Amino acid sequence: MSVAHGIRKLGVLGAGQMGTGIALVAALRAKVPVLLHDRSSEQVAKGLSLVDKLLAKDVGKGRLTSEQAKEARDRITVVGKEEGIKGLRDVDMVVEAVSESLPLKQAIFSEFAAELRPDAILASNTSSISITKIAASAIPKDVSAASEAGKKIAERVVGLHFFNPVPVMVLLVHQLAEDTYTLWNDPARLLLRVAKAEVTVSKDVPGFVSNALLMPFINEAIMHLEKGIATREDIDTTLKLGMNHPMGPLQLADFIGLDTCLAIQKTLYEGTGDSKYRPSILLERMVDAQWFGRKNGKGFYEYP
Ligand code: 3HC
Repeated sequence: MSVAHGIRKLGVLGAGQMGTGIALVAALRAKVPVLLHDRSSEQVAKGLSLVDKLLAKDVGKGRLTSEQAKEARDRITVVGKEEGIKGLRDVDMVVEAVSESLPLKQAIFSEFAAELRPDAILASNTSSISITKIAASAIPKDVSAASEAGKKIAERVVGLHFFNPVPVMVLLVHQLAEDTYTLWNDPARLLLRVAKAEVTVSKDVPGFVSNALLMPFINEAIMHLEKGIATREDIDTTLKLGMNHPMGPLQLADFIGLDTCLAIQKTLYEGTGDSKYRPSILLERMVDAQWFGRKNGKGFYEYP
């Protein structure tokens, strides 16, 4: 196997829709062994069953032979709950793809720094949280962030934002932290092989272009629904057929996950103080009611 990119083993933390997709494209397209970890074994089982389904679809469509599909599937190894993050100790790079919660990511990156190899690249699939904040959490309490040692740790942290569904979407956004943390590492380019297009966001601002633009759009659509301006179908059809979007904004919100949309909007609002990012009350209530969209069967639409 070629190791020109320097990544012989990849860790993926989180087996939700993003983590599973990242594990699949890395195993299939970059042909790299992947260690997949999630604290929920139920989530891992669900993720792997999606991987199997997608590989079988590619075999059915003649895009892969059964051998190629089996090889890709065999490259993914699950690291169980008992082993935890320690089980990822020999990876060259890890991609964190858990929910959009700063405290959760801070705890994970602090553990990454303690348990993983000192030269491993620590990537986050975050779509809104400051990479500088995540990088700082990787620095142990007894190490000064301004010291060479502190900077070295922070420099290992990078933002790699994939889009959902990962196997279909061609874009990968590479996010930088602020200047003190020069975050790009050549080996991390491995993951660019799984995408067809790359953009760089050079300022560590909330939302990194994509969600800073997308979330006010989704939120405005929700407010239109809330105010009774049009039905959910008519709002979505307007954008689908009037602007050629593949999905209307309410369908897209369900697809991303309403809990994820709300978490991103809160990060944008808190991070900028700009009222254009204030989440709509309807979105807040739907998430309070545990309506998370497609992933749990109910959002703006129903998914039996
Ligand atoms: N996982 C993997 N593959 C999937 C999938 C999934 N969840 N859903 C659909 N696909 C695949 C299908 O298998 C099919 O593949 P094929 O061409 O190999 O057969 C292909 O996508 C097209 O699917 P369909 O024909 O069933 O349906 P559509 O033509 O309606 O396409 C879609 C589905 C690709 C999801 C399309 O509706 C779309 O592009 N929607 C917009 C998606 C989008 O905007 N994503 C970005 C979200 S924002 C984000 O991720 C950032 C985050 O930070 C919030």
